[in-house]
Amino acid sequence: MNIVVIGGRGLVGRNIVERLRAEGHDVSAASRATGVDVITGQGLAECLAGAEVVVDVTNSSTFDGEEAFDFFRTAIVNLLEAELAAGVRHHVTLSIVGTDRLQDSHYLRGKSLQDRMIRASGIPFTIVHATQFYEFLLAIIAAALREESMHLSPAYIQPVASDDVAALMAELAIGEPLNAAIEIAGPERERMSQLIQRFLIDMEAPCTVQADKHAPYFGALLDEHSLVPTEGALQGTVGFQAWLDRSAFSRVGW
Ligand SMILES: NC(=O)c1ccc[n+]([C@@H]2O[C@H](COP(=O)([O-])OP(=O)(O)OC[C@H]3O[C@@H](n4cnc5c(N)ncnc54)[C@H](OP(=O)(O)O)[C@@H]3O)[C@@H](O)[C@H]2O)c1
Repeated sequence: MNIVVIGGRGLVGRNIVERLRAEGHDVSAASRATGVDVITGQGLAECLAGAEVVVDVTNSSTFDGEEAFDFFRTAIVNLLEAELAAGVRHHVTLSIVGTDRLQDSHYLRGKSLQDRMIRASGIPFTIVHATQFYEFLLAIIAAALREESMHLSPAYIQPVASDDVAALMAELAIGEPLNAAIEIAGPERERMSQLIQRFLIDMEAPCTVQADKHAPYFGALLDEHSLVPTEGALQGTVGFQAWLDRSAFSRVGW
């Protein structure tokens, strides 16, 4: 199968590319590093020529502000137009659990717009809504850290291994379009403030976490269940401690 993975050199993208190549598919990993830019449209038509399936795992370089919304809006307009012109038969995308509930976040509002535009495009599609990757906990820390303390929401979070998400994305890319969205989360649910405190202790970071239900999450206020999936979501196999023990972050020092 001829598959283009846009964002194919990113965290989840390169894992998807490796999995699909290992199964013998003809896979291109496209991104600005290979001359393909979903914002300017540069290289898109050329890289999609002959593609049957497009997997979109591009990401904005900023997580907040109008810039994040603009990235996802412009990217999907350009990508869907190029896919229609190329006759792509299946668009597979990676979105985030809770996007529709968290419209105060520019980033998630952009992801939510993407979902709606994909559904309206006429291109058969599959949308995966994943919870936060374990690696993304570091971005949450970076966004909340003020000197050596941080206020974090005690809302529940159920992060997932990016490896589990990549495995699902690769499987769905070679299957029939679902024309629906499905959810995947990790096997454990915990309060964000507690989980991150645990992570910081393991990293021996001299930071304190204060649970604060008014602490914004990339611009959005969370309720207890904003970030967790609905019943019936698929479940990843790797728990937080198992991921941490295998990661480069355990007891890394600060
Ligand atoms: N991280 C999470 O916790 C999480 C959870 C659920 C869903 N997701 C979604 O999963 C997707 C991928 O996340 P990730 O963490 O794997 O992202 P990532 O590591 O930041 O990778 C992003 C990829 O997008 C490419 N890219 C960025 N701007 C581009 C542009 N203008 N044109 C073409 N390619 C561009 C980058 O390559 P170049 O720099 O070479 O262009 C890179 O290959 C995102 O859409 C995110 O919303 C993430």
